[in-house]
Amino acid sequence: MKVLVLGASGATGNLVVRQLINNKVNVKVVVRSGNNKLNDLMHNELIEVVAVNISELDLIKIAELINDCDAIVSCLGHNISFKGLFGKPRMLVSDSIKNICNAIERSKKDNVKLILMNTTANINRKLQEEYSCKDRFVLSLLTLLLPPQKDNVEAASYLTNVIGENNSKIEWIAVRPDTLINEEKVSDYNIFESIQRSPVSNAGKTSIINVAQFIVELLHNNELWNVWKFRMPVIYNK
Ligand SMILES: NC(=O)c1ccc[n+]([C@@H]2O[C@H](COP(=O)([O-])OP(=O)(O)OC[C@H]3O[C@@H](n4cnc5c(N)ncnc54)[C@H](OP(=O)(O)O)[C@@H]3O)[C@@H](O)[C@H]2O)c1
Repeated sequence: MKVLVLGASGATGNLVVRQLINNKVNVKVVVRSGNNKLNDLMHNELIEVVAVNISELDLIKIAELINDCDAIVSCLGHNISFKGLFGKPRMLVSDSIKNICNAIERSKKDNVKLILMNTTANINRKLQEEYSCKDRFVLSLLTLLLPPQKDNVEAASYLTNVIGENNSKIEWIAVRPDTLINEEKVSDYNIFESIQRSPVSNAGKTSIINVAQFIVELLHNNELWNVWKFRMPVIYNK
């Protein structure tokens, strides 16, 4: 198996890459040139580094990227700075997901696994999720005012509504952590179909390393994959 990781230099992405390599999985990573987050892995034979900005690639280049990969993980997210939050590319995550899906659909590939790192701040419209009126109001406002929130909502909505559940080429899962925290080690965590608490007024915690572990486990364990495919599991630390 070879896995393409987008956002590989990010907090979660780099841990996904490290865990995949620890599991002896071949990884292709996309990092912006000059980024040195994965420098210590440069000589590892399991890693292929593509130093480009994913948002600047056309469909042909994206097709080349996915060509030899069986699975794609997106841990892309906007940097927490004024430029990252409000500058271009405003739809970094959703445009990348759309381009990747387009490239897969035009390719000869079948059953490509795609994992999107999403958020509990995104309501799964296919379920009767228990978001309160206040939560729905606040999240709608954020989607209107905060480009990264709109981007995350659009990325998952593209998977649920456009790619859907009857796609022979793409199987997808949108993993939804609550507030991300840094922990050294993997700890116990729970996975749910839907939120268990308000992400606005009573947010839970999710270790970044646990998100990475769950993503890698999904790729390894077919039974687990089949449980969660075409769904938007929520992950909280125990
Ligand atoms: N923070 C939370 O509590 C929380 C909770 C749930 C879900 N999430 C979501 O989870 C996702 C990943 O979170 P994270 O904290 O692991 O992300 P992160 O550390 O901020 O990493 C983001 C990744 O995206 C890349 N990136 C950012 N702007 C880019 C651009 N303009 N062009 C190309 N690449 C770009 C970064 O590259 P560089 O390293 O080169 O900047 C990095 O690899 C995000 O979508 C976030 O919204 C966050």
